[in-house]
Amino acid sequence: MTDNPKIQHLQDMRAKSRMGGGEQRIVAQHAKGRLTARERLDLLLDKGSFREIDAFVQHRTNDFNLDKQRFLSDSVVTGWGTIDGRLVYVFSQDFTVFGGSLGEVHAEKVVKIMDMALKNGAPVIGLNDSGGARIQEGVVSLGGYADIFLRNTLASGVIPQISAIMGPCAGGAVYSPALTDFIFMVRNSSYMFVTGPDVVKAVTHENVTQEELGGASVHAEKSGVCHIAADSEADTLYLIRKLFSYIPSNNMEDPPMVDTGDDPLRMDESLNTIIPNEPNKPYDIKDVIRPIVDNGEFFEIHENFAMNIVVGFARLGGHSIGIVANQPAVLAGVLDIDSSEKAGRFIRFCDSFNIPVLTFVDVPGFLPGTVQEHGGIIRSGAKLLYAYCEATVPKLTVITRKAYGGAYDVMSSKHIRGDINLAWPTAEIAVMGPEGAVNIIFRKELDKAEDPVKRKAELVTDYREKFANPYVAASRGYVDDVIEPRETRPRLINALEMLSNKRDANPAKKHGNIPL
Ligand code: HXC
Repeated sequence: MTDNPKIQHLQDMRAKSRMGGGEQRIVAQHAKGRLTARERLDLLLDKGSFREIDAFVQHRTNDFNLDKQRFLSDSVVTGWGTIDGRLVYVFSQDFTVFGGSLGEVHAEKVVKIMDMALKNGAPVIGLNDSGGARIQEGVVSLGGYADIFLRNTLASGVIPQISAIMGPCAGGAVYSPALTDFIFMVRNSSYMFVTGPDVVKAVTHENVTQEELGGASVHAEKSGVCHIAADSEADTLYLIRKLFSYIPSNNMEDPPMVDTGDDPLRMDESLNTIIPNEPNKPYDIKDVIRPIVDNGEFFEIHENFAMNIVVGFARLGGHSIGIVANQPAVLAGVLDIDSSEKAGRFIRFCDSFNIPVLTFVDVPGFLPGTVQEHGGIIRSGAKLLYAYCEATVPKLTVITRKAYGGAYDVMSSKHIRGDINLAWPTAEIAVMGPEGAVNIIFRKELDKAEDPVKRKAELVTDYREKFANPYVAASRGYVDDVIEPRETRPRLINALEMLSNKRDANPAKKHGNIPL
């Protein structure tokens, strides 16, 4: 309370602005199990750090009686704050005002903070909860979206952009999050689709619910649109904070160094026995990753999508790294369309933001079959290859078991600028597996053999001894060293530190032409 009427007026306006679409709509939002735009920002940002701007902005439309409904701040809350003391710009769509729909001033507010973020080199985090284009404003809304899409694209690779979908996100509105680096979704409470269930029914006669069409599970497991699905809004916002701890604020900075307290020289004996004796027996690559990285902490991205490859962030001796690893426990770790795209996109993020890439290789090759060939595995595999070839960040590679065929080349091999390539004694680096190789090169001899089964077994053993090991590659310098698995952590940390001043560049160009 104050005696000064002007100050009182300001305080009243602020209080009104904070109420968004009003008490009733806030109650309705809570009744759906959802938080309001401002409550979400309170959870996302360090306590008390949020600085709101444009709280007095109102829309300028008079059509459809909109002049009688003006809300201070309109349908999006914008500003900046900190996460672990580091600056981030934020926008949070307010569903209590016109269903969070995007009209002219909503777009202007978002554009303003995106421009500031780009100029000042800090990430943008967008919390999406919106009915899409504000129908009453027509084409002006479409223009507003396009203004945002352009900035998403220009900011790509300069500042990290993170999106969380906390409610509806439909129609062309999906393309702003889709242009950002990471999409988080809340399970059973958020959905994304280009056309909703009604249009789907009219066009394809399919009956499908919003959840089945574009819920968090669908996008986290099938489409790969969602990078991280969480069980609640609070979990989602917590995980964004966690992700942020691994990444720098812009492309000119290194990722934050953290004193994790884990001994860089620590060895892990369990690794010496982790690879099964039988070459086709699976093991979980995450049982390799965790003992190696600091405190066993691995922040996985796309955990439930294309699970035959594993990607995520971790730390080694306090340095932030991106990990890409074939997963022998799923489809024998084979590369296919989805896994190639998943890993390719992750590598490009790491390379954009100076995060070294560590690759664990155990790959039998590319997945055969018409589904893959007709689906364009050639194009998709090329994306992964392109991403690895193009990346100039420090690249460390550990071949744990199979590195066969083209997949050997693709998975951060020495030939495509792997900086330090290590192999375990269990590595098998060859054009193909012994069985397949013997079938092809000894077909005629086997046809004529008195006992083809026995002869084949002999030839397979012979081939395995000759080629299914790391030493042929090591003799040519294709791997830099063969190491005991238990010493992997100290060796990798030493290599990372050795590479800490790495300078490498690609030829000057407008941009390359990745096979999209
Ligand atoms: C204006 C909107 C709105 C919109 C919702 N509202 N969407 N106002 N433009 N797009 C308003 C409602 O009138 C209502 O106002 C309030 O928001 C809450 O909406 P409800 O329908 O009561 O909420 P709910 O039942 O939860 O349903 C949410 C919803 C539904 C599923 C999002 O509102 C809906 O289907 N909206 C329309 C979605 C849509 O078709 N958008 C255009 C898509 S095309 P009151 O005053 O009652 O609180 C598009 C193109 C983008 O977005 C292109 C970009 C390139």
